Amino acid sequence: MIVLGIETSCDETAAAVVRRDAGGRGTILSNLVRAQLAEHAPYGGVVPEIAARAHVAVLDRLVAKAMAEAGVRYADLGAVAATAGPGLVGGLVVGATTGKAVALAAGKPFVAVNHLEAHALTARLTDGLAFPYLALLVSGGHTQILEVRSVGDYARLGTTIDDALGEAFDKTAKLLGLPYPGGPAVERAAADGDPARFALPMPLHDRPGLDFSFAGLKTAVRLAAERAAPLSPRDVADLCASFQATVAAIVGRRAERALAGFRARRPGVEPVLVVAGGVAANGAIRAALAAAAAAGGGRLVAAPLALCGDNAAMVAWAGAERLALGLTDPLDAPIRPRWPLDAAAAPVHGGGRLGARA
Ligand code: KG4
Ligand code: ZN
Repeated sequence: MIVLGIETSCDETAAAVVRRDAGGRGTILSNLVRAQLAEHAPYGGVVPEIAARAHVAVLDRLVAKAMAEAGVRYADLGAVAATAGPGLVGGLVVGATTGKAVALAAGKPFVAVNHLEAHALTARLTDGLAFPYLALLVSGGHTQILEVRSVGDYARLGTTIDDALGEAFDKTAKLLGLPYPGGPAVERAAADGDPARFALPMPLHDRPGLDFSFAGLKTAVRLAAERAAPLSPRDVADLCASFQATVAAIVGRRAERALAGFRARRPGVEPVLVVAGGVAANGAIRAALAAAAAAGGGRLVAAPLALCGDNAAMVAWAGAERLALGLTDPLDAPIRPRWPLDAAAAPVHGGGRLGARA
């Protein structure tokens, strides 16, 4: 089964072709990502309207190139999958409409993919992981811990009550004068810094549960930066190192707790923690999660760097997993800018007209 995947939910335009064999093993045949860094850099963040236009400008050629690199014809496809949410509405319209058009023209089924599900299932593509497992999704828009039970069956165990972790990295970078995107810049600066110089708070640290909060931490970094101003490169490095060490400790503690809960609920099942999303590229966070997994008698499965950030291989794979179960979507399937994976979990904040923000 060969599936074309399309991803346009934020600021990466991506197209990929993935094969899933009858035994459930996946192979990436092509995987193209075009980031829109230059377009958004002057604004220090993603501008939705610019993102949507940039997707329109390149997506058709990117799809053609992904198909050519994979060496498959449209007639060889089992389905066309596109991210239908959650994400920025303009980009979702571009990707889903393109996916539906290709599906219609090729006479193939369409699969509307949830971007978070695609991140959560990536470990099955890369490592052939069996259900159930825990997944920590950490990106610019999301921070959540899920129990992944089967395709389409997710229990959200914890989420952020304010900022996403990637957003906290991006905002910290911005206030310290580092370039966008902030995560890699903070990690680079932190490499030469002293993580013990600034004592930063760990919000919700001693409270039970698996929710996260990063807004207070961001404020603490700002206050520490104001006290130390004017900032030398050493100050910036020390602030980045202290921030990164603090979030790694927070995430590690939550992971330990999630693994302990998993072991209690599912005796006899090896506790596996998957980390996915752009922030999963961070070395300090990976190390904290690996330590937590080892302490909990389990193991950490981290996506290869190329599959941590947004990409279309994960969308094609989620499409293939759904197709294998007969879960395809009609051509009038809606896009869903807000689309929680676990519909039963209560909205944590921002229960607006369009649904929960987080
Ligand atoms: O998954 P992703 O590519 O896009 C979505 O938000 O869905 O994640 C992007 C986020 C950005 O906030 C970026 O700053 C963060 O991931 N990020 C990192 C690192 N690389 C990317 N954060 C910390 N350390 C990194 N090395
Ligand atoms: Zn993502």
